[in-house]
Amino acid sequence: VIEVPVDLGARGYRVSVGRGARHLLADELGALPGVRQAAVVTQPALAAAGWVEGLQAGVPVEVVLVGEAEADKSLAALSEVCRRFAVAGLTRHDVVVALGGGLVSDLAGFAAATFHRGMRYVNVPTTLLAQVDAGVGGKTGVNLPEGKNLVGAFWQPAAVLCDTELLETLPEREWASGRGEMAKYAFLGSGPPDASLLDLPIEEQVARCVAIKAAVVGEDETESGRRMVLNYGHTLAHALEAEGLSGSTTRDLRHGEAVAVGLVFAAMLARRLGRIGEDRVALHRRVVEGFGLDPRLPVDADPDRLVGLMGRDKKAHHDLTFVLDGGDGVEVVHGVEAGDVLATLKEMEGAR
Ligand SMILES: NC(=O)c1ccc[n+]([C@@H]2O[C@H](COP(=O)([O-])OP(=O)(O)OC[C@H]3O[C@@H](n4cnc5c(N)ncnc54)[C@H](O)[C@@H]3O)[C@@H](O)[C@H]2O)c1
Repeated sequence: VIEVPVDLGARGYRVSVGRGARHLLADELGALPGVRQAAVVTQPALAAAGWVEGLQAGVPVEVVLVGEAEADKSLAALSEVCRRFAVAGLTRHDVVVALGGGLVSDLAGFAAATFHRGMRYVNVPTTLLAQVDAGVGGKTGVNLPEGKNLVGAFWQPAAVLCDTELLETLPEREWASGRGEMAKYAFLGSGPPDASLLDLPIEEQVARCVAIKAAVVGEDETESGRRMVLNYGHTLAHALEAEGLSGSTTRDLRHGEAVAVGLVFAAMLARRLGRIGEDRVALHRRVVEGFGLDPRLPVDADPDRLVGLMGRDKKAHHDLTFVLDGGDGVEVVHGVEAGDVLATLKEMEGAR
């Protein structure tokens, strides 16, 4: 097991990465003072795969199943989950275990942040995306019909167990999604960006991404500055997701697949703004393709609507903030003109 520390002083914790890491759960819970029972928040797919039954917590467990659609990451679901906690008699000294992907850890983490005004939780991420990203860093929350992740809290887990064995039942599409976030890390690490991460054993792949995320979160827990770089590729990705392109169209996108498109878009925008050259754009495309992802804008994406979605309000509409590549690497850039964003999207549209 590879251990990656997240240095946040009193709120710091350890991410344990490796095959069978879930078996450390009883030890982790045993190390938390006062825990008498645990609520395991998970989904039917994880139960069907046998992962719920096999989880040994060392204390009595209440299993709370939640839905699997992004729409199930809602205030209504939060209410359901908290009511289940109440009925089970969970006290503020007990613990929540999130066994699932980012949907489960966002929802269960937020429930832990608010039930009894805050209790401890442990993440056992079961998707590649959640192991390299969502399960670490303490961003929790739910969606509103008006937008993703609009209600939430920064609430750090007490421990994270990234068990790569759990990925054995992960559908291929979810692997691809996780690789989208990995492609992002390729541009945030110290070495030259490439897809060579994929040549390493899976434990190493996950641990290296977690280390990059842990370093950024350790520097800026609540995203007042530096942590924003973790949103590289995400501005367009969130707009593509908000477009509801999923399901209804030719190419529905999982989160990481949308990030892959967003990375190449960000590079093309940075080139338009004179921050980087064409060689660097080509590098973004190569890295994204190296991670097995399609860098093209979906055929039914509408540039005008996407620009509208990227500006959260009228004021921001003509003055957008992006994370962009440049001479000093990836950084936050304010004051990007909507016209440049639109022109870049049209350029992508023309190329597809
Ligand atoms: N908090 C953060 O920092 C952060 C970062 C990135 C994404 N997110 C959030 O994460 C969510 C997406 O999470 P995700 O990509 O992990 O997907 P997910 O949690 O939606 O899971 C995808 C599907 O895979 C199934 N599944 C999960 N693990 C499995 C396994 N081991 N075997 C078989 N099936 C399995 C799930 O039941 C689900 O149907 C979004 O809501 C996004 O907003 C949060």
